[in-house]
Parts: sequence; C-alpha cells; structure tokens
Amino acid sequence: MATTIVSVINQKGGTGKTTTTINLGSALQKLGKRVLLIDLDPQANLTYSLGITEPAHTLADVFTGQQKLVDAIQERNGLYVAPGSNELVDVEISLVTHENRESFLGQLLSEVKDYDYILIDCPPSLSVLTVNALAASDEVLIPLQMEVLTLQGLGQILNTVQQIKTTLNPRLKVKGIVVVMYDKRRKLSTEIEDYLKENVDEYIFNQRIRLNVKLAEAPSFGQSVIEYDAASYGAKDYMGLAQEFVALR
Ligand SMILES: Nc1ncnc2c1ncn2[C@@H]1O[C@H](COP(=O)(O)OP(=O)(O)O)[C@@H](O)[C@H]1O
Ligand SMILES: [Mg+2]
Repeated sequence: MATTIVSVINQKGGTGKTTTTINLGSALQKLGKRVLLIDLDPQANLTYSLGITEPAHTLADVFTGQQKLVDAIQERNGLYVAPGSNELVDVEISLVTHENRESFLGQLLSEVKDYDYILIDCPPSLSVLTVNALAASDEVLIPLQMEVLTLQGLGQILNTVQQIKTTLNPRLKVKGIVVVMYDKRRKLSTEIEDYLKENVDEYIFNQRIRLNVKLAEAPSFGQSVIEYDAASYGAKDYMGLAQEFVALR
C-alpha cells in the first residue's frame, strides 16, 4: 500500500495543529482510509484529546529503542494512534547529539505498513523533532489563522520546508494552507486571506475551518468532532477538507 506521510506544522502554539491532525484524520477514516496519527508534541495534546490517558508505551519509548512502533500504536474508534508523552522532551535533547538525528522518525515510520495516510502532529517549534517529521514526510499541511502576524510566521515555515527539501528530503512538498478558526464577521480575516491569495504561491484549501465550539469541546470526550457531533460546522468543515485533500494531487 502506498502511504502518504503528512506533517501538520506551524511553529506557533494554539494555531489548530492538533485539532486539524485529529479531525482531518478522523474525516479521512470516515472516507474509508486507514489512518495513523503520530503525536510528536511533548505536550501530548493529541493523545489526551483522543482519551488515551496512560498509554502503556509511547513514542518516547520507541525513540529510545525500548519498544517497537507497531507495539506502541493503539486503535481508537478506527483511528490508529502512536501516543506521545512529556518524555519526548528528553528524546529531543538526546537526539541533538545523535548521528542520524534528522532521519530517526523516518526510519521508524518505514517499519509500519498498511496505512493510506500517516499524519504527524508537530510540536509548536521548528525543533529537531519537527525536522524529523519533515525529513520523514511527503507533504506538509499548514493550519493558519488569519491574524496580522500570520504572514511573517508563514514565511519562516516555508523557508524551513525549503531548507529540508534541499538538504534532507527532496520529495517534500507543501500540500497546502488550511485557513482555521475562520470568522467571516471579522473583516481583517478576509483582508489577510485576500493578501495571502495574491502573495503566496502555495495552495490554499477552498474549505475553510470555521470557529466552532464543538471543536474545542470534543477533546473532553476523547472524540473527534465527527464522532462528537457529526452535524456541527466543525465536523462538516473537516469532512469537506478531507474530500478536497484526497482529491488534490
Ligand atoms: N476551528 C476552531 N474553532 C474553535 N476552537 C478551535 C478551533 N480550532 C482549534 N480550536 C481550539 O483552539 C485551541 C488550540 O488549538 P490546537 O489544535 O490545540 O492548536 P495547536 O495544536 O496548534 O497548539 C484548542 O483549545 C482547540 O480546541
Ligand atoms: Mg498541538
């Protein structure tokens, strides 16, 4: 099976990375895809948001060689999850002096088969863990809020992707930018979006993700928004995004 590995990145916190990884993943699964989510953020929000509170084995154990990735993977409502944990901080520190520090995750992922998509929820930084994700990925997905500082941050992300492409991973490409937490009543959002469309070459998904409280509530129930409230805007937007995502070559 051909697997597409996708890094969900943005070096800022609170920009919808985890929400997008979980709900795009869940939506892809509803479209019949086999999906593995990788929680690479030491804050482990993705893991907790899917109701996994005390995983027997985490990615940190896999990085340190104590566990095999296949044995750490858990199934949640048809989605597969490699849980993260705070110990990824130590992994990050030890990776810095490691010989193959940038290609560690890529090697681990090459051992898992049978997934259509592997989505990696990245930490809110362009750290060595994020570099590992980019080095292992085919594509990058950038969730972006339409705020004034967005554009500068986007430039940094695109530079980093370009650097990884020229040094570690020539197959890497930007799949697209997803406008998240979209509020059409805010004039500034529309203005920034227009500016983005004129000045950035990367694909911007037609499907925007609107602000929707159900998206913020679902993690408390350990569910994706599609399981929590399939009729909500949040669920509809992420289902629409998944369809556009699958169709986009
Ligand atoms: N479209 C949305 N509407 C409402 N709340 C959202 C939306 N997207 C994300 N959130 C909330 O915003 C916060 C930050 O999102 P999160 O996905 O955790 O960002 P990151 O992973 O980039 O730090 C979370 O509390 C999340 O529930
Ligand atoms: Mg997060």
